[in-house]
Amino acid sequence: MERELALEFVRVTEAAALASGRLMGRGDKNGADQLAVDAMRSMLDTVNIQGTVVIGEGEMDEAPMLYIGEQIGAGFGDPVDIAVDPLEGTNLIAKGLPGAIAVMAVAPRHCLLHAPDMYMEKIVTGSAGVGVIDLNAPIKENLAALAKASGKSITDLTVVVLDRDRHRQLIHDIRSAGARIKLITDGDVSPAVAACVDGTGVDMLVGMGGAPEGVIAAAAVKCLGGEMKARLKPEDDYQTQRMLEMGINEPDRVLGLDDLVKGDDVLYVATGITDGDLLQGVRYGALYSTTHSVVMRSLTGTVRYVTAHHRNDSKKIYGKRA
Ligand code: FBP
Repeated sequence: MERELALEFVRVTEAAALASGRLMGRGDKNGADQLAVDAMRSMLDTVNIQGTVVIGEGEMDEAPMLYIGEQIGAGFGDPVDIAVDPLEGTNLIAKGLPGAIAVMAVAPRHCLLHAPDMYMEKIVTGSAGVGVIDLNAPIKENLAALAKASGKSITDLTVVVLDRDRHRQLIHDIRSAGARIKLITDGDVSPAVAACVDGTGVDMLVGMGGAPEGVIAAAAVKCLGGEMKARLKPEDDYQTQRMLEMGINEPDRVLGLDDLVKGDDVLYVATGITDGDLLQGVRYGALYSTTHSVVMRSLTGTVRYVTAHHRNDSKKIYGKRA
């Protein structure tokens, strides 16, 4: 993929963040999501790609914008797979909580796993966990292995887990092993990325979350040289069927990074909507609004943080005050 695309996609996530950030704390998660989707969709049409949405806002018959299979982009340039989550963490923005982002991953055609909307078991660490973590092993063993590989004691490790009833045993086992825990209410993409970045205070993300979010996170993990293991968890016949239709024939198989994101050419782009471990949220000033984004490219391993000041009177700005 052309490297210039990286900056083009930053514009896309910036637009989604600027638009939806206006509704922070307003209790309107659907409204915020719609603003993000609209902004992301129209900005994507300005980018010189032949894009196919492989992870998006839903199936063709139910979601009008950014549905799976939708063709996007200016229609020439690289044929690419696009995974989007215009507003990752709808509850977070509705309540004004940290960690909401606008995010997307882009790779050459057929390189991103077309993960259907279902659950996925995930374990993510930074580079110390490469070849060390094992989705089939008890969490206690994974913590001991990561502690050894990173030269830390287990009690110094911080593990992020979605605060859900399905994770009661997992949380109990992490506590028994002596590690620190950060329970989150929503949004497991940001902490998965944070686990791969030194200095964020996150060493591991573990537990069951969305499969689409898992593939998007895998793009960043690949760019950052981290480690991720995953397994799809269909809950009924319909989901199993969807999984088979999307070419995933071995449901119990542990998926590695190369199953989630093929090849070595993937881009991960995110803009903070509310403040998070890695990115600051949108700030709306009198004349300018400020966004904070990250763009990563696996081919080179380059990670760029982009702080952008957007003039509020620019016609191109989404989410202007009425
Ligand atoms: P939204 O779709 O509302 O933005 O929620 C995203 C999310 O919190 C993901 O980050 C996470 O993987 C998943 O939902 C968890 O699902 P559930 O809320 O069903 O446990």
